[in-house]
Amino acid sequence: MKIYNSISEFTNIKDNLTELTFVPTMGNLHQGHISLINLAKQYENEIISSIFINRLQFNDKNDYEKYPKSLESDIELLEKNGCDHLLIPDESILDDIKLIKAPSKSKKLCGKNRPGHFDGVLTILNRFFKLINPKISIFGKKDYQQFLLVKEFVIKNYSNIKIIGGDTIREDSGLALSSRNNLLSEKEKNIASSIYKVLCDIKSSKNLLNTELLDNKKKYLTKLGFEVDYLTICDASTLEDSFSIDTNDLLVAVAAKLGEVRLIDNILLTKL
Ligand code: PAF
Repeated sequence: MKIYNSISEFTNIKDNLTELTFVPTMGNLHQGHISLINLAKQYENEIISSIFINRLQFNDKNDYEKYPKSLESDIELLEKNGCDHLLIPDESILDDIKLIKAPSKSKKLCGKNRPGHFDGVLTILNRFFKLINPKISIFGKKDYQQFLLVKEFVIKNYSNIKIIGGDTIREDSGLALSSRNNLLSEKEKNIASSIYKVLCDIKSSKNLLNTELLDNKKKYLTKLGFEVDYLTICDASTLEDSFSIDTNDLLVAVAAKLGEVRLIDNILLTKL
């Protein structure tokens, strides 16, 4: 695996590269990221990943500073799993960066309490897409809203890039893999697995979706010690609240804090 520690190192060789599939990350890699690298292997292109903790997408300075870092093991993991190129830019990637304003659906779900988060995500991705010019870029569907916003942004602005979503990878307990899980104690991890159980319960009540069901599940999570940011059932493409499973695919999405750790997860309900 070739490693580029600056933009200029990468731009110097860029013209010699063949077509690329891009898997952007903020590091602290786990099997969820590796599943995206494995998905990338299904295409003929060489694989490029990036590790950059993008401060523009953190609206909480503490969260940014606390973000787990494990560069050495990240490099090892990517190398072992067949990534061909790794870009690790320094902060100067943000110099004179063109700021992107995400569309209004970025204000729902995770955007409600994290103003500017998706502006920051699209801003850095726009920079990476311009720099790398990939044929394909792959995103995990655990961050479903991010996946959707990136997909729509790319359809509008980059006709040559295809966005592909990778399924969420889970521990045996159902807990969705996340870099933030490293900040949980074993006891908290156990509690955190209830998030997926709640999503599955709602899925099994697909024919009986209503506010009462949501309120009960929220109360249940709160009782377990979560501070629920949102638990929503919404249209899977507009992200508007909806129970209309007869006509639309729906998304059940949740974000909740356990101690200081913010966890998100979701499940899709396909229309009846
Ligand atoms: O999902 C992430 O890890 C980040 O939001 C991304 C896509 C790497 C942009 O910084």
